[in-house]
Amino acid sequence: MKLSRLLRHAGNPAGLPGLIWKNLIYPFSAQAAERRYDLRLGIDTAGWIGPCDMDIGRDEVQRSEGYGATPPATARFLIAQVADRAKGFTFVDVGSGKGRVLMIASQFPFRRVVGLEHSAALNQIAAKNVHRFAAQHPDVAPVELLTGDATKLPLPDGPLVVFLFNPFGPEAVRDFASSLKASYTAAPRKIICIYYNPTHAEILAGLGIFTRQEQVVCPADPIDRFQRLNLPAVVFET
Ligand SMILES: C[S@@+](CC[C@H](N)C(=O)[O-])C[C@H]1O[C@@H](n2cnc3c(N)ncnc32)[C@H](O)[C@@H]1O
Repeated sequence: MKLSRLLRHAGNPAGLPGLIWKNLIYPFSAQAAERRYDLRLGIDTAGWIGPCDMDIGRDEVQRSEGYGATPPATARFLIAQVADRAKGFTFVDVGSGKGRVLMIASQFPFRRVVGLEHSAALNQIAAKNVHRFAAQHPDVAPVELLTGDATKLPLPDGPLVVFLFNPFGPEAVRDFASSLKASYTAAPRKIICIYYNPTHAEILAGLGIFTRQEQVVCPADPIDRFQRLNLPAVVFET
């Protein structure tokens, strides 16, 4: 097709850049790979949504980052780093968006998987995704979605894997860190914290509850729109 269509557009050069993008560049992009991933699973996790376009209050918009999902192979890789020593733990995704990481975590041997998300609209999409996914994968761990500010919602009891993909700015990271410390102090237990794109890792490192901290380099993921940045992660452990 494509060459003949391109030639036809030679008479209309204004439309050519769009045509080249649509037919020759976009199909090979991470964004297109992300859409194909969703299509394959019959879910909707792709795309980017800025905080201003979310159903959240003005203060929340200032404190939070937008929605974009962790690339699937990266999520699987990071969870696999800790899964052996976290069997039966509760997995919590802090800022769970459309639920991609929740679905991936539910395939690991966690007791349950919990998503904390302040956008009710994103949580509704996540609920549909999780439902469809569980119908196709009957053996996955149960997934629970909670709507609210993750810096204020109580963390589950028992040992935890806490996952963050850069959900918020420094002020909210400080609030979340205080909540994590209070939860740990009230009931000391094993907490493993995976912080992907750890823009404010120093706040968690300074909490005084973690005894181990490991930098993790993630392998390239073709579904990663930020592939060129080669985003790292830090794993903290009490
Ligand atoms: C970068 S996305 C990550 C989504 C998901 N964790 C993943 O890795 O695929 C960050 C998410 O955190 C959510 N978020 C930001 N601030 C929040 C807060 N204070 N409470 C709950 N969710 C928040 C955003 O709405 C967004 O869905």
